[in-house]
Amino acid sequence: MKAQKQFYVANWKMNWDFDETVTFITQHYDDFRELGRIHPESQIVLCPSSIALAQAAAVFQDSGIMIGGQDCADHHKGAFTGQVSAEQIKTAGGAFCIIGHSEQRKYAGSTNVVIAHKCEQAFLADLTPILCIGETKEQLQQGKTSAVLEEQLKSIVDLFAPKTYLLHDKQFLIAYEPVWAIGTNSVPTQDHLDFVYGWLSNFIKKQLPVAQIFLLYGGSVSPQTIKEIKHNPLINGFLVGGASLDFQEFKKIVECT
Ligand code: PGA
Repeated sequence: MKAQKQFYVANWKMNWDFDETVTFITQHYDDFRELGRIHPESQIVLCPSSIALAQAAAVFQDSGIMIGGQDCADHHKGAFTGQVSAEQIKTAGGAFCIIGHSEQRKYAGSTNVVIAHKCEQAFLADLTPILCIGETKEQLQQGKTSAVLEEQLKSIVDLFAPKTYLLHDKQFLIAYEPVWAIGTNSVPTQDHLDFVYGWLSNFIKKQLPVAQIFLLYGGSVSPQTIKEIKHNPLINGFLVGGASLDFQEFKKIVECT
């Protein structure tokens, strides 16, 4: 059954420098609060780059708007130059963390096993992971979508099988983000979404029953495309890239669903 809660995650990627991020959140502080107030079932999560995360968290403290990281390390702490730990995100005021985004998989070489460890670090730090999974265009054309998703989720299932206590009653957001839909303005058909979310919810019921899982969709979500993708009742929110850089566009997406 469809849970009431819906998540709207703004993934600002590496688009803004510190000043630009602060200007945007300061300009739209009241707008975001108001949007959250009018739609109490909608949890808005803003994911700035790590340099601006603490500042964003300070601005939105106690506002109902949550802040998330865009990635975290697969280790707790130590000699990992350049990485940001889940604990650091948490203590800077973050509550969520995107993990396994296809751009991380592609450009930073994150494997499924590393991504599973990042999710573990997020749970240990009391951050809600937003795990991204999805197939490439080629894999889609070869009819391998469910095989790819299964492979991506298997490392999570294997890692948590002996430690289910880490997942107990914890929110776990899983975003289906077909790589071919990211930044392309093309979105999957109704049939494809029905197939994927049906498959995902069955898989999760069998393999990850202890967590409170919410399934999201990401990839070219905009005020135009949301109308085509919002119908599936198993989708409990959206991960928004490009359109989240414009408050009015983001607002239309929240208001359309
Ligand atoms: P997009 O990005 O909305 O610009 O397609 C989504 C994402 O990469 O999370």
